[in-house]
Amino acid sequence: MSNLPLLELRGVGKSYGAHRVLSGFDLRVSPGEIVSLIGPSGSGKTTALRCMNFLERYDEGEVWIDGQLLGYSGTGRAAADCDSEARVDEVRHPVSMVFQQFNLWPHMTVRQNVMAPLVLGKKMAKDEARTLADLALGRVGLSAKADAYPARLSGGQQQRVGIARALAVKPRLMLLDEPTSALDPELVEEVLQVIRSLADDGMTMVMVTHEMSFAAQISSQVVFMEAGRIVETGAPEPLFNAPETERLQQFLKPWFNRSLTPRAQVIP
Ligand SMILES: Nc1ncnc2c1ncn2[C@@H]1O[C@H](COP(=O)(O)OP(=O)(O)OP(=O)(O)O)[C@@H](O)[C@H]1O
Ligand SMILES: [Mg+2]
Repeated sequence: MSNLPLLELRGVGKSYGAHRVLSGFDLRVSPGEIVSLIGPSGSGKTTALRCMNFLERYDEGEVWIDGQLLGYSGTGRAAADCDSEARVDEVRHPVSMVFQQFNLWPHMTVRQNVMAPLVLGKKMAKDEARTLADLALGRVGLSAKADAYPARLSGGQQQRVGIARALAVKPRLMLLDEPTSALDPELVEEVLQVIRSLADDGMTMVMVTHEMSFAAQISSQVVFMEAGRIVETGAPEPLFNAPETERLQQFLKPWFNRSLTPRAQVIP
């Protein structure tokens, strides 16, 4: 594993009008790392994730992707200081995103959904895009559904298409925003299984999740946020088994109470 970060955030902040939703956010993600963002609703997890590929314009600090500053060329952080869309696309080229609500086009087949970012976004020839789409669908176990429309798929299958679409562009870093939280409980595991297999293949990921056991098992680093700030961060074992802050202890309590697994055995 290289020590050069693939993604680095330094003092990143973001406001919506007078409402400061992200402050002083620092993160270093090396190739092959899996980072989980956890925290209560409204703590800024999605905002932080979206700033990592400039789907949200951060207005303080710096986001670096593979050694390049994302979104701005100078020191100004106003809307007028933003780089051109073409430049932003160039810098975030290694990054792709998986959304909570899948965001599939209902009028397109599964294959067309996976091809869309390649053909429309990356201007790839259709034959080549089709080959990559079919490879990605194979990777998530959905080759047989390539010609189906999303409405004919279960939620778990739809999210696996969402993951295939993010994979088809051959990213080096994937951002996942609560990829299983829109699913019925019995469909969660098939999606976690796909994410686990990507992790096994060495994919670098930053994931917002409420699946604490999964985060504990898969992450190299866990970041606990509240009110737009990082409260506690570290490796999963100490963070889950011996949280330092009262706030994290309080946040984890319902999960420990719900869990049937004895506390000492949570971390494999
Ligand atoms: N487009 C927006 N305009 C104004 N405020 C926003 C916007 N998007 C998010 N916010 C606010 O920013 C704060 C952080 O929101 P964010 O969606 O990042 O939280 P979250 O941690 O992802 O929450 P959840 O777990 O519910 O998804 C919240 O107070 C939210 O109301
Ligand atoms: Mg969110």
